[in-house]
Amino acid sequence: MSQKQIQPEDGILVVRDLIKRYGQKLVLDNVSMAIEEGKTTVIIGPSGCGKTVFMKHLIVLERPDSGEVYYRGRRIDRLSERELVPIRRKFGFCFQMGALFDSITVYENIIFPLRQHYKITDWKAVDEMVKQKLALVGMDGYQHYYPANLSGGQRKRVALARAIALNPEIILYDEPTTGLDPITSDVINELILKLQRELKVTSVVVTHDMRSAYKIADRIVMLHHGRIVADGDAEHIRTHPNAIVQQFIQGKVSEAELEALRLGGTKFPTQFMPEDFE
Ligand SMILES: Nc1ncnc2c1ncn2[C@@H]1O[C@H](COP(=O)(O)OP(=O)(O)OP(=O)(O)O)[C@@H](O)[C@H]1O
Ligand SMILES: [Mg+2]
Repeated sequence: MSQKQIQPEDGILVVRDLIKRYGQKLVLDNVSMAIEEGKTTVIIGPSGCGKTVFMKHLIVLERPDSGEVYYRGRRIDRLSERELVPIRRKFGFCFQMGALFDSITVYENIIFPLRQHYKITDWKAVDEMVKQKLALVGMDGYQHYYPANLSGGQRKRVALARAIALNPEIILYDEPTTGLDPITSDVINELILKLQRELKVTSVVVTHDMRSAYKIADRIVMLHHGRIVADGDAEHIRTHPNAIVQQFIQGKVSEAELEALRLGGTKFPTQFMPEDFE
């Protein structure tokens, strides 16, 4: 496969031969990928296939058992937490779990990454920054709300505003539209497109939502059991000959999985975990 020939300079983020196990479970099985600067790369695949784990490796929140991660040609997977700080500053994250802190206001949530990296002296400039970031996602005026008093879609928009607080070069989104109705999902999709156009960011988006994937992706990569099974533009994925890809994008359950469920799951190698149900 040509995957082997990927070089550290081939993208703003490059992973090579990534292998990750948790106990006996092989979660990433030799994944190589170069992520192109300024583009939106969407990672799809069934629940538990390793999407979130893959994404965490991109900013070294998880470390590979073997393989390498590069940011702008520099190897980062072995850097210390301290050495990673200036690199992580280039990233905005919109993660699946605990996107916002519930005990502090929207305003305090937005400035949280700023406080992690800088000592704030000019509060007027900060107020202006918060206003501007919230305006970009249509949420100016909600500064003093607590996350509990926002709808799911509003919370995701605030999480997006926080992700862009430090003007990142790269934004990582984990399931930005999960749990939202189709119209609110479209608002988030439009925002992702807008941030890419207006701020020229590189986006990596993990999603199960094919509508969203087709709408925002320059490139779609499908993972299955920790391996890349398809990689290309929306048309390439739509017309992909692999049955696993077709079943996934059409939202079908395979005969083998149905059979396993009828047998009470005894033939199925994986267990359903509570976190698989959102
Ligand atoms: N810290 C960890 N310790 C042990 N196992 C883990 C850990 N993190 C993830 N896993 C396992 O790795 C596998 C892949 O998890 P991951 O979260 O990447 O799935 P996913 O593709 O993001 O799924 P979903 O679409 O449901 O979010 C799962 O079997 C999960 O239980
Ligand atoms: Mg996940």
